[in-house]
Amino acid sequence: MRNLINIMDLSVEEIEELISLADDIIADPQKYQDACRHKILATLFFEPSTRTRLSFESAMLSLGGNVLGFSEAASSSASKGESVADTVAVVSGYADIIAMRHPKEGAPLVASAHATVPIINAGDGGHYHPTQTLTDLLTIYHEKGRFSNLTIGLCGDLKFGRTVHSLIGAMSRYAGIRFVLISPEELKLPSFVKQEYIKAKGIEYIQSESLEEVIGDLDLLYMTRVQKERFFNEEDYLRLKDFYILTEEKMKLAKKDMCVLHPLPRVNEISTAIDSDPRACYFKQAHFGRYIRMALILKLLEVQV
Ligand code: CP
Repeated sequence: MRNLINIMDLSVEEIEELISLADDIIADPQKYQDACRHKILATLFFEPSTRTRLSFESAMLSLGGNVLGFSEAASSSASKGESVADTVAVVSGYADIIAMRHPKEGAPLVASAHATVPIINAGDGGHYHPTQTLTDLLTIYHEKGRFSNLTIGLCGDLKFGRTVHSLIGAMSRYAGIRFVLISPEELKLPSFVKQEYIKAKGIEYIQSESLEEVIGDLDLLYMTRVQKERFFNEEDYLRLKDFYILTEEKMKLAKKDMCVLHPLPRVNEISTAIDSDPRACYFKQAHFGRYIRMALILKLLEVQV
């Protein structure tokens, strides 16, 4: 039985297979409409979500399966003190696969030791978000046609931004990657990510506080929201929340084929005026989430179509 806790649980070849499968689903969705008939996905979300939970549910429904779950800890027995281990041991008897989001780093890994069905990490605290990375990779492949030889700017909350941590891990396996880490001092990339995925692999990187100074070098710009929910005090959040705002003026400094990504939700960090710029790929990226999650469910349930 396979789980997806960290994006590195999937080999480069497996990621390419998932992308190819997602593309086949996009091309011919009817072929897959009964692939998971009588299968049940449980979405156990102990933290808020729009895209991840709903795209997982849409994915399973589009495969002919069913969904159940909860969208906040308060409506589950976690509010009465039930452990993650007990929750997933019980839900394993109600569902064939579980997608779980939790505010505590490592909770999905703990869950995987107690579940008898595959566990998918749908985001654990400020740690990792591997299925967002699959969505990001499908978008990058569609926009750039390759994963190698790219200069990738990651901008905003690199400290708590779990999507950034997973994306860096995934991209660190390709040749010719250069990372440009754009953040204020307080929101720099944590050392566990920098050491494991950048320094240990000898990948070229620079750090900058200024988006304007580096934007012209980028093939991809991955904007992120400052993660309000992970801050210990309101004052720091208010000081940092609008540190970067991508505007039309800044986009004039970028390459004509730079691709702007954002895992969403957006707060203020990308001006809505950019939405009509052909380089803005973030809504396309969110839509791809449904198809790559369909591919992932098929893989983890070992369903052949
Ligand atoms: N990208 C992402 O995880 O969005 P949600 O928090 O809405 O699921």
